[in-house]
Amino acid sequence: MKGALDDFKVMLTRNEPLTGLARAVALLVIFALGVVAGLWAAAGARQPAYGGIVVPSIVQLPSAAAVYQQPAGACCRPDPDPTFGEFVAPTRLMHDMTDEELFWRATLEPAAAGYPFRRVPKLAFMFLAGHGVLPLAPLWERFFRGHEGRFSVYVHAPPGVAINVSEDSPFYGRQIPSQETSWGSVTLMDAEKRLLANALLDFSNERFVLLSESCIPVHNFTTVYGYLVGSEQSFVEVYYRNTKQCRNRYSRRMAPDITLRQWRKGSQWFELRRDIATSILTDTRYYPLFRRHCRPSCYPDEHYVQTYVAMRHGARNSNRTVTHVDWSTGGAHPVMYGARDATPELVRSIRESREPCTRNARPTTTCYLFARKFAPDALPPLLNMSAAVMQY
Ligand SMILES: *[C@@H]1O[C@H](CO)[C@@H](O)[C@H](O)[C@H]1NC(C)=O
Ligand SMILES: *[C@@H]1O[C@H](CO)[C@@H](O)[C@H](O)[C@H]1NC(C)=O
Ligand SMILES: *[C@@H]1O[C@H](CO)[C@@H](O)[C@H](O)[C@H]1NC(C)=O
Ligand SMILES: *[C@@H]1O[C@H](CO)[C@@H](O)[C@H](O)[C@H]1NC(C)=O
Repeated sequence: MKGALDDFKVMLTRNEPLTGLARAVALLVIFALGVVAGLWAAAGARQPAYGGIVVPSIVQLPSAAAVYQQPAGACCRPDPDPTFGEFVAPTRLMHDMTDEELFWRATLEPAAAGYPFRRVPKLAFMFLAGHGVLPLAPLWERFFRGHEGRFSVYVHAPPGVAINVSEDSPFYGRQIPSQETSWGSVTLMDAEKRLLANALLDFSNERFVLLSESCIPVHNFTTVYGYLVGSEQSFVEVYYRNTKQCRNRYSRRMAPDITLRQWRKGSQWFELRRDIATSILTDTRYYPLFRRHCRPSCYPDEHYVQTYVAMRHGARNSNRTVTHVDWSTGGAHPVMYGARDATPELVRSIRESREPCTRNARPTTTCYLFARKFAPDALPPLLNMSAAVMQY
């Protein structure tokens, strides 16, 4: 080795051609230089403060060449750091946080004005799948196709139940940690908050839509996206009627925090802006009152978000829902549309309301973006008309 080094020195001083061992040592030195240069370049790309440094390109060995093979101008883009990417937009939705930990974490907001990545506002579609099935998933898959990057899907199914969808479905791997729910109880509201909280962990989610397994989209994605992202207000149906059904669900034990004058009712199926979704998870004053006093036959899912949004964010709410439902037959449950009811005429009448509503203070006949309740056997006729009637 000593001899080789001597040869190398001689070669350097005399500018002689390389021989045997000397050539090997020279290659080793050049290789080491390449590694150092590569590390330097990588560190420089991650810290724009070092930007502008020209890395000497004396080395053309394969290991170093790999570092340089970036398209021109790629030097100063933020590094696609997988842990950072996972932090700002989780792709693995399962976690071990308790609700208390999750809800707290979900309310953390960036204090900085901008983002160190290109933030495209996304719609969060949050499905409450109480029976652990999504029979209308093929219709939704058609609706979502081609719009990747502008939506995210979350599914709350009963614990231990895996939704059966193929690996290329937007529903695949989108189940969140869940707990048992029962109709009309506060556990359903807990599930809605769990969906909101998990969806808030993705910093690009801007609008949050709550849906059930019997909901369908009646407009295409482009229309739904523009309608919601461009709306100044949220769509939480809020009203008070002096009927037994509305009045008697109120408990005087909620006073003085919530008075009968402040008590509101509305559809469970809401749409929320990000700031209002966050606000709901920060509420530690009103929710415990619902947990204690809104039972039985009170239905927190029809009163809690509605009363809270009316009290705290009334001016930023449209007070109507974008999810159509038909209560005209009376009773505790709305009309369920089966195969024979799911006609183009029905869907057209939902897409285009006879009575106009307002959006951003302007009248419009596009009042509903989604509709329920559709039975599993309505899927074939809905798929058949999706392109012609619903434009997707
Ligand atoms: C899941 O769906 C596939 C295709 O629709 C079906 O063949 C399979 O039996 C289903 N698996 C379960 C466990 O339901
Ligand atoms: C979406 O639907 C609207 C009308 O409902 C239509 O004008 C538009 O072309 C559709 N967009 C796409 C991409 O199909
Ligand atoms: C919705 O109701 C609130 C009162 O709770 C009101 O301030 C707001 O203007 C209403 N929104 C619309 C669009 O009428
Ligand atoms: C599908 O739609 C076409 C019209 O677009 C209609 O003629 C046909 O009967 C429909 N088929 C089914 C199975 O609904």
